Amino acid sequence: MKRKTIISGFSKLSREEKMEKMGELTGSAEQIKAKLDSFRLQNTEQQNLLDEISENTLANFYLPFGVAPNFLINDHLYHIPMVIEESSVIAAASRSAKFWARHGGFNAQVVSVVKSGQVHFIWKGETNKLHNLLPELKFDLFRASQELTINMRKRGGGIQNIELIDLSDKMENYYQLHVTFDTADSMGANFINSCLEKIAQQTKHFFKHYEGLSDVERECEVIMSILSNYTPDCLVECSVECSLDELDNIHPGISGKEFASRFQKASKIAELDIYRATTHNKGIFNGIDAVALATGNDFRAIEANGHAYASKTGKYKSLSKASISDKRFHYQVKMPLSLGTVGGLTSLHPLAKFGLELLGKPSAKELMMITAAAGLANNFGALRSLITTGIQKGHMKMHLTNLLNALKADYEEKKQALEYFAHKTVSYNEVETFINSLRTKLQ
Ligand code: MEV
Repeated sequence: MKRKTIISGFSKLSREEKMEKMGELTGSAEQIKAKLDSFRLQNTEQQNLLDEISENTLANFYLPFGVAPNFLINDHLYHIPMVIEESSVIAAASRSAKFWARHGGFNAQVVSVVKSGQVHFIWKGETNKLHNLLPELKFDLFRASQELTINMRKRGGGIQNIELIDLSDKMENYYQLHVTFDTADSMGANFINSCLEKIAQQTKHFFKHYEGLSDVERECEVIMSILSNYTPDCLVECSVECSLDELDNIHPGISGKEFASRFQKASKIAELDIYRATTHNKGIFNGIDAVALATGNDFRAIEANGHAYASKTGKYKSLSKASISDKRFHYQVKMPLSLGTVGGLTSLHPLAKFGLELLGKPSAKELMMITAAAGLANNFGALRSLITTGIQKGHMKMHLTNLLNALKADYEEKKQALEYFAHKTVSYNEVETFINSLRTKLQ
């Protein structure tokens, strides 16, 4: 039966009252409370902190926090924290990291760190006049936003430029103020949005009080002001490279030359075909999102950005690319990553803070390189499996423990199952049959 009861004022209820409400709708409030309480922290200070991060918090939702060790990036060794529910991601990242640590490591560099936001507005005067007013408007906007940007300027960031974009041919009288920012070590969403709202307010004020304008020209209708999560100029690249000979032992029975050639074809397919490109990029985001979560960064923004960038030519493509030249294999990812190492959750969430400590408290630029390396490592690991053993062998091995837990296997059953499936194909049916056979033997 579908429930149609609308709950009013839910956010104003205490946690206990909220659980009672849930109880009224779903069964017993006591059971709900017992279940949810078991996922709360003993440390009330930290629990209160987590409660207040979001609205209507009832409990904590746990995900594994792990480490992928041995990432050699620009000659510096990192052990990368990752938060992820998919069993094989940390294993794949670690395996790739170990391989590349022995073959020169990851080379990474930040190409640019510009972010942007737009004030979208309607102005009904002549376009030429708007262009003529722009220098004065810009001056006024920089002046008006001085107070808001003072701290950011001290940290080396601030507003870089304000540009007028004329889109009146696409929508009548529609223009944008395209504002570019450097947000130093913060992701900067709040800073950018506050600046944009100030700029919007001041733009309206500028037109309203500018002498000599007609009534129509005095009217500037701001539709909205918001940062863009698309940051094609906040870009990082990361690559690995080795001779074909060094790939000789990467998989039994396949020469380095053959491995590289297959790898390059797999990479090319992801460039050509959107079905493959999406999955290929998902494999990159396996690593990237896991680091983003472990360091308190906004993985939805990161994903939206990466996928938009993957379609920048009008066709969705892979974000990484393999090439072979002079008997050398080269694999590179180039993508926008807008990350922060100060502000937001980075210093609030106890484990995000720890994640950053584990990385040696990196700058935002350093974290961009580390995160890109994690993405490339997972992507390399996926392709390495896909073109050799297939993905399921490793995947299901890692998933075996989940299956055993779902079957409520005890320590001894797990031990025997792990031994039994060490060289066998894992499937739910096979595992269930095996566990049942152990259990019937014991009866
Ligand atoms: C699974 O999470 C990710 C892969 O599908 C990525 C890929 O196919 O490249 C293995």
